[in-house]
Amino acid sequence: MQLAASEFTNPNLEVLLTEEQIQGRVKELGAQITAEYANGDVVVVGILKGSCVFMADLMRAVDLRMTIDFMAVSSYKDGTESSGDVEILKDLSNPIRGKDVIVVEDIIDTGHTLARLLEILGTRGANSIKLAAFLDKPEPRVRKEVKIDYCGFVIPNHFVVGYGLDAAGRYRNLPFIARVKDPSVA
Ligand code: IMP
Ligand code: MG
Repeated sequence: MQLAASEFTNPNLEVLLTEEQIQGRVKELGAQITAEYANGDVVVVGILKGSCVFMADLMRAVDLRMTIDFMAVSSYKDGTESSGDVEILKDLSNPIRGKDVIVVEDIIDTGHTLARLLEILGTRGANSIKLAAFLDKPEPRVRKEVKIDYCGFVIPNHFVVGYGLDAAGRYRNLPFIARVKDPSVA
C-alpha cells in the first residue's frame, strides 16, 4: 500500500486563514450568540454539506439550551455562478414555528442560495431567523438584501477551500482556509 500524501501540507494550497485565526473568531461569534439569545428558543440549522465544520465548532461555542437541524439544497449553477433556482434536497426534520432560528452557511457568494432559502424559511412562522456565515465574499454579490448577522471573515473574490468548503468534493477536511494555486493540478 502507498503511503498517503499529506493533504494538510499540499504545496498547491496557499493558506489564507489559519486554524488559530479561525478558532479564535468562532469563539467570538459563539460568545456573541450566547449573549444575544439568552431567552431564546434556539434552533441552529446547518446547510449541508459545506457548513458542517463551522456548525460543529460554532455550536460548541454557544452556551445555550438549543437544538439543531439540517437542510440540503442544490442551487442550479449557470456555468460557475449559482442562478437562484434552489431545490430542497433534504428539508428540516422538525417545524420551526415559534423558534429562534440561526441558519448556518459556509460562504455567501452571489447570495442566490441564501436569498431563496430565507424566503422559504420565512413562510414557516419562526419567531426570528438570523444568518451565520463563516465567510462573506461580497464582490460577486447579486442578492444585496442578504444580511449576514454573524460573519466569520470577509474575504476577497477568490475560490477558497477547507473548513467544510470544497472544490469538486475535495478539501472539506482542511482545518484552515486556503486558495488552490493551480486548480488543474490534482
Ligand atoms: P451563492 O448562491 O452564490 O451565494 O453560493 C453559495 C454556495 O456556493 C456556497 O454554499 C458554496 O457551496 C459555494 N461557493 C461559493 N464560493 C465558494 C468558494 O470560494 N469555495 C467553495 N465553495 C463556494
Ligand atoms: Mg454550500
